[in-house]
Parts: sequence; C-alpha cells; structure tokens
Amino acid sequence: MRVNQKPYRTILLNPANRRVVQIIDQRQLPFEFIVRDIANSESMAAAIRDMQVRGAGLIGAAAGYGMYLAALEIPGGASESAMTRHLNEAGKRLKATRPTAVNLEWAVERQLAALAATPTIEGKIEVARMTALSIADEDVDYCRRIGEHGLELIAKILRRTERPVNILTHCNAGWLAFVDYGSATAPIYAAHDVGIPLHVWVDETRPRNQGARLTAWELAQHGVNHTVIADNTGGHLMQQGQVDMVITGADRVTCTGDVANKIGTYLKALAAHDNGVPFYVALPSSSFDWKKRDGALEIPIEQRGDDEVTFISGMDSDGVVREVRLTPPQSPAANFAFDVTPARLITGFITERGICPATEEGLFSLFPERRPPSG
Ligand code: MRU
Repeated sequence: MRVNQKPYRTILLNPANRRVVQIIDQRQLPFEFIVRDIANSESMAAAIRDMQVRGAGLIGAAAGYGMYLAALEIPGGASESAMTRHLNEAGKRLKATRPTAVNLEWAVERQLAALAATPTIEGKIEVARMTALSIADEDVDYCRRIGEHGLELIAKILRRTERPVNILTHCNAGWLAFVDYGSATAPIYAAHDVGIPLHVWVDETRPRNQGARLTAWELAQHGVNHTVIADNTGGHLMQQGQVDMVITGADRVTCTGDVANKIGTYLKALAAHDNGVPFYVALPSSSFDWKKRDGALEIPIEQRGDDEVTFISGMDSDGVVREVRLTPPQSPAANFAFDVTPARLITGFITERGICPATEEGLFSLFPERRPPSG
C-alpha cells in the first residue's frame, strides 16, 4: 500500500543489508511513520511482544523473519543437535510472545519443518530466508485474492442499494496487520480502486485504539472515505440502516467457524445479527486452527497490561504525544485483548479461495484437504 504515495510492505529485508529485517513501528502511528531495523531474533520477539508489529498476518510474517535471524545466529561449527536446540529455543521464544493469533505458531512450525530438512548452517540460513520470503509473499497474494472475492459482495450491495456502500470494521485488519492489502480492508481497497462508492465506519477499538490510530490512518492514506466512531456506536447505526455490511479480520478460526478477533467483535456480531446486517470475516488460510472445534473453550485469550485501559495516549495541542490517566488511581482494570464470536452469528468467510458459509461443511468445501479422513 502507499504511504505518502510511496508503496510499502509492512516487513521486508533491508535492501542495503539482507541480514537485517525492516518493520514499520506501529506504536508511533498515526503521528510518526518510523521504519526500524531488527537485527536479531530476540529483538524480533520483543517487537512482536511490544506490538511494534501486530495483527495476525504480520506477526506470522515477523515470526518467519525472526526464524531467519535465528538461523543467522547459529555459531560457526555448531553440531546438528546444537543447531536444532538453538532454532527450537528461538521458535519457542517467538511463539510465547502473543498467544491468540495462530499465525505465529503456524509460521514458526513451518520454518522448523523446513529447517529440519537441511543439515548445514549455510543451508539452514538459505532455507530460512526463502521460507520467510514465501510466508510474506503468500500473505500478500492471499490478501489480494481476499480483496477480489470480497469486492463481489460489495458490488452486489451497490447494485441493490444504488448509493455508497456503508461498511463497518473493527480494530485493524488492514495492510498494517498483514504484509500488504489487509484482510478486512482488502475488499474495501479493491472496491474503492474500481470506483465503487463506499464509506467505512471505523470502530475506534479500545483499549489500544487500533481502529482510530491505524485503520483510519491507512484508509486516509489510500483516499477511502471513512468516519471514526466510538466502539458503542455500531448497534445504533445498524438500527438506523446505516450499515450495509460488517467486515472484520480474525486472529484464529476453528474448523467449526468460531472466530477469535479483537475484543468487541462479538458484540458487533450480535448487533448485526439482531438487525439483519451481513457479518463477514475475512482471513487467509494461515489464520485457521484446524485442530480446534470450540472457540470459546479452546482458544487462548491474551490478557494484556491494565495500563492500556487506565491510560490513553494521543497528541496534545502543542503536537507532543502524551499518555494520560483515565481512571481513578485506586480502580483496578481488566484487559482482555480478544473475544470469540460463535459461527452462528457469522454470515460467511472471505478467504483466498473464495467465500463460504461459517460452518464446518462450508470450510471443508473450500479446503477439502483439511477434511478428516472418514471412518
Ligand atoms: O492485538 P492486535 O492489534 O494484534 O489484534 C489483532 C487485530 O488486529 C485484530 O484482532 C484484527 O481484527 C485481526 S488481525 C488481522
């Protein structure tokens, strides 16, 4: 996507030194656009944990690059078992950074499987580099295809309503949450680019405000008409007929179609269900957890520091970014980062292979290779 008209990916090898990875530090947006160098696997784990990079697809890609950095750190002359120990430890450290998005463990496991097939240090470095690039390129390709499929849904609504299509989204499942395009935003960008008139309601998404800070910023960079709303506004807008569809991303989806996504998604799905508003979840196949069936029982929900609830940061009238307290100092706070929306509230999934109902059968129709062998 473009930043000040210049195309960017959210993660890449530093063109001047391919032993270093570059990321956009998302903690500084929308006030500053800072590209940072990440030179070792521990720094990559810290970048994921501190949310310099965030979003399911991007933390998967970051973990892929983190394993490449880990391969570069193998000491010369290391035995096969020492190499394996080093890589397993790096993988464990990366996986421990954030528990909910499945892309992280998916990317580490993919790297470890590829690395196991190569005995030499040089071989491992090359395999890890190629695998990291493949994970990133695949993410771009899958999100682009999600855009093509989702565009059809938006075009269909336009044909029916004959006025700009109003789409509500929650959190940031935009290009910042992936390597490019985004998942929930890919259909929006695709529709905008072919001239479909549309408008996006952007949930601010407390407590970290990824909607207000990131989704609003990227939509503005791409010239997409949008309005930031307080999180509690969606139900009212749906009742008033001002939302034609909801599109969110996902951090982990079970084989039965339950969706873990940013806290507050479940409430939007309930409101959409009550008002007959189609509720779509857009995701690449790297966000499916085919081993889990019951999202509410089985998906680990990250709990983050209470300071994200008790404090808020923003730019003051002097242009200085500050953090200020919101709550009485003696009041405790709780900070659940994700919730689970049951499949029954979801109209469909938009994936790189097409659109399907949010049912086990629907998912297996798109991903037949995942159907367990009968008998
Ligand atoms: O905690 P974050 O910002 O990493 O949360 C992930 C998200 O951005 C959302 O849950 C998003 O909708 C799904 S990730 C594509």
